Amino acid sequence: MDLNSLKKKAQKEIENAKDLKQLDEAYKKYLGKKGELNKILKTLKDLPIEERKRIGKEANKIKKELKERIKETKKTKKEKFQKEREEKEWIDISAPGKIPATKGHIHPITQIGNKAEEVFRGLGFSLIQGPEMEDEWHNFDALNIPKNHPARDMWDTFYLENGKLLRTHTSPVQIRYMESNNPPLRIIVPGRVFRYEATDASHEFNFYQLEGLMVDKKVTAANFRAIIEEFLDSFFEKDTKIRLRPSYFPFTEPSFEVDMRCINCGGKGCSVCSQTGWLELMGAGMVHPEVLKSVGYKPDKWQGFAFGIGLDRLAMLKYNINDIRLFYSSDLRFLSQF
Ligand code: DAH
Repeated sequence: MDLNSLKKKAQKEIENAKDLKQLDEAYKKYLGKKGELNKILKTLKDLPIEERKRIGKEANKIKKELKERIKETKKTKKEKFQKEREEKEWIDISAPGKIPATKGHIHPITQIGNKAEEVFRGLGFSLIQGPEMEDEWHNFDALNIPKNHPARDMWDTFYLENGKLLRTHTSPVQIRYMESNNPPLRIIVPGRVFRYEATDASHEFNFYQLEGLMVDKKVTAANFRAIIEEFLDSFFEKDTKIRLRPSYFPFTEPSFEVDMRCINCGGKGCSVCSQTGWLELMGAGMVHPEVLKSVGYKPDKWQGFAFGIGLDRLAMLKYNINDIRLFYSSDLRFLSQF
């Protein structure tokens, strides 16, 4: 390319530059070390001396002119460039998003726990929590479940390498609370528990319980019954009916199982209640004197009732869900319904 057309081309590029970056690029392209002008100058060595002088002089003149022009342009267009850039990069932070924001959901088990907590708080119970990693004393011994006693088989336990275990129920928190508080007391303990067992539609190796404990001077099973009836009525927002069946737990005497008249069929018998008209809801009983003794309470002075409800079970009944595993599936199609 001859010097003249190179000059024209460069001038045009400088003129058309839209920002400082393009100006710098033009500088590099024509005036840089490996730029177009130097390329031409490098070919001069093969030309006769006169020719070399002429073209060399011409090239240096163009170099100077272009440099000058770029400098000028930078000066005069700086503000314009700046303004254009600001306009281009301006973001309207008040503009609505293109993708609609999706709301998160409170997990149904958490919702159930919150609702239960609300009802029990109204009945004078305080919410207490305890550790998921437990020791044998709190999970078993203090609850009147001695080592090597067959009753331990009621709880399939995950033992940990550090000698501890994953709590198999929320009952150990009864012990923890009584160890450091004096009666009278009313507490509820929602929490995660673990069982070493196979899963199916009604079993999970990890699920949630709500423990309840009331200790006072004259607490009876009638008090328990009244409180649970009150709780279930508020929780299910209808008139519920319960019955107590004799049962066995090492930490209560007497022990009972609480059944609720099936909320699905009203007691006629349906698939939810396996045609029995009743739903098993929780284990409960009057706190065993050995348990009171293990925390240093005098059994002839204090009495109490305790209960343990499966929160998953409550949620399944409330929302009509037939597979417990759905709660732990992280499946948004399921979760977004709550
Ligand atoms: N801890 C028992 C379980 O997981 C449930 C239970 C039964 C809790 C009776 C209690 C109770 O507090 O009195 O199977």
